[in-house]
Amino acid sequence: MELPVVESIDACRSAVGAARRAGRTITFVPTMGALHEGHAALVREAASVPQAFTVVSIFVNPTQFGPNEDFNRYPRTLDADCRLCWAAGADLIFLPTVETMYPSNSCTFVDVGELGNHLCGASRPGHFRGVCTVVMKLFHIVAPDAAFFGAKDAQQARILRRMVIDLDYPLDFRIVPTVREPDGLAMSSRNRYLTPEERAEAPKIHRALFEVQSRVAAGEIDVARLKSALRNALEAISNARVDYASIVDEETLQPVARIEKPALCAVAVFLGRTRLIDNLTLA
Ligand code: PAJ
Repeated sequence: MELPVVESIDACRSAVGAARRAGRTITFVPTMGALHEGHAALVREAASVPQAFTVVSIFVNPTQFGPNEDFNRYPRTLDADCRLCWAAGADLIFLPTVETMYPSNSCTFVDVGELGNHLCGASRPGHFRGVCTVVMKLFHIVAPDAAFFGAKDAQQARILRRMVIDLDYPLDFRIVPTVREPDGLAMSSRNRYLTPEERAEAPKIHRALFEVQSRVAAGEIDVARLKSALRNALEAISNARVDYASIVDEETLQPVARIEKPALCAVAVFLGRTRLIDNLTLA
């Protein structure tokens, strides 16, 4: 058997509606495709819910890309994506076109406010507005009981969780731990842009975060000292340009001066032309 793929909103709604009438719990994993083991972990988690009917959407969402970003060259690997989803237990792929999601007269957006302005939001203006808009639209199409997001995109997960609360969307919002390569590099669809030299340097991003986590475990709570060690470690990576290296409150994402409650150490680093993000929790 093959995994069903639907392209229209109506076809998606009717497949989900039939599953719901059959007593299934609708679980949902939104993605942009170019799937890897990190996505597979989300799909497996979604499929492990009792009676799950698991929908994966694959949609490279133009509204979350800036004008000089990689929308056009974002990797598109549909056949391999379908195989991965099938193996991980998905029941349906929703594969809309840009015209389906954004008809030319569409003009309503979800504005995320202050949470979307720092960290990734500072260097990618409008990014989270695009993410929230597409995810809210997908929620309205798929109508899931539970949705699964990766801890790797820490700011995205917090903003979407906030959106679900603020806009009263009835949903079990689940965050799944970051899946890493054996050498520590966080899996990402963008890792395939890396040259062999950049790929060899990339695990140092995780190592720098891990070093901060170890210092905190050893009792260091002064954020200025932690940040300066973090920056030094990141700047020592060859061909790296640090976009941000921040330590913020776990919930509010506001900068903190001391680690007195759980904090998030989050970084974005350009390796050559490729922008990679990663984070670890400091508790
Ligand atoms: P995408 O980058 O394809 O990621 C889809 C989901 O997979 C996100 O929730 C992301 O956090 C999660 N993910 C990616 N890499 C992961 C890893 N190494 N470990 C665990 N989870 C990982 O994020 C997006 O797409 C888009 O912004 C989207 C939410 C689909 C809206 O367009």
